[in-house]
Amino acid sequence: MIKKIFPFVLATLTLMSAPVAAFADDDTVATEIVDTMNKLFGVHPGFRANHAKGLVTEGHFKASPDAAGLSKAAIFNGSSIPVTVRFSDSTGVPNIPDGKANANPHGLSIKYHLPDGSETDMVINSLHFFPVASGADFHDMLQAIAASPDNAPKPTKLDQFFEAHPAAPKALATPHTPDSFADEIYYGINAFIFTNKAGQKQAVRYQAVPEKIVHLDAAEAAKQAPDFLIDELPKRLAKGPVTFHLKAQLAAPTDPTNDATKPWPDDRKLVDLGVLTIEKAVPDSLSAQKALLFLPGQVIDGIDVSDDPLIGTRDSAYAVSFSRRSQ
Ligand code: HEM
Repeated sequence: MIKKIFPFVLATLTLMSAPVAAFADDDTVATEIVDTMNKLFGVHPGFRANHAKGLVTEGHFKASPDAAGLSKAAIFNGSSIPVTVRFSDSTGVPNIPDGKANANPHGLSIKYHLPDGSETDMVINSLHFFPVASGADFHDMLQAIAASPDNAPKPTKLDQFFEAHPAAPKALATPHTPDSFADEIYYGINAFIFTNKAGQKQAVRYQAVPEKIVHLDAAEAAKQAPDFLIDELPKRLAKGPVTFHLKAQLAAPTDPTNDATKPWPDDRKLVDLGVLTIEKAVPDSLSAQKALLFLPGQVIDGIDVSDDPLIGTRDSAYAVSFSRRSQ
């Protein structure tokens, strides 16, 4: 997957200035999505088109014995794997107040550094499921948001979009402001396929489950200092590590892997894949985050992308955003 992406990063500059046919492929829709994000949130040189505000931390992941039974991926072999983890607020606004409703969903991006120098990523957030199932619908939703300012006549374009896509308002209502990045549960949303040593395959969706979940109500969230989440985590880490259990929700054969608007039933088995331990915030998070690119489709042997079409659109969109913010 990554081999496919880096030539694309280089090609992006050409694509950006060329007239493009609407949605011929992932790269086209991704470029238009990033254009729309830039319109909605403004262009902030050096910052991500979405999840612009964040904090980079470091730690390690140690898999449980159950993980190797599901996937032969090297991150699940039980050794201690160094990780870089970025927590983030939504939107492309680098100084969004952390307690603002639009700063939801919050993000958790994990980069696993393998002994052979390779990397694999998980890029997850606090939505329980996604508002739309395809990149084209995500583009249309962003366009509808852009066309629906507070003073827009009713029904707004967004009202109309929600009417036609009933999962969207439901998904957008799922995340709440946490009292700490450490006290939030993060969902993988997109499905991936594990293969174990015996060649058995299993569709999974990730969850990163904290020691405890603490949410603020809207009034409490609005009273918080603008950087309360970004400032709190380094102080908490100075006192000791923060841990999450990485879990895999196992799909039943009838569960859809290609529709992120459809959460799998709560009674599906959750397997504890191991413990993600965050040890410290990096000294210069702003410059560290500029150099980092997390890609949902950057997988290693033992983990494959599923037929969920969002993963390809996401890989392309993150590459477009990276190309623009690296200039
Ligand atoms: C078609 C669907 C989606 C599109 C087009 C999209 C687009 C983007 C873009 C352009 C960025 C900035 C990337 C960068 O500059 O490095 C971003 C960041 C991010 N997105 Fe998405 N996204 C989508 C779906 C999702 C989903 C389903 C999740 C969670 C499961 C998610 C979680 C995140 C997170 C956590 C970040 C911050 C990454 C980082 O820390 O570098 N996104 N997204």
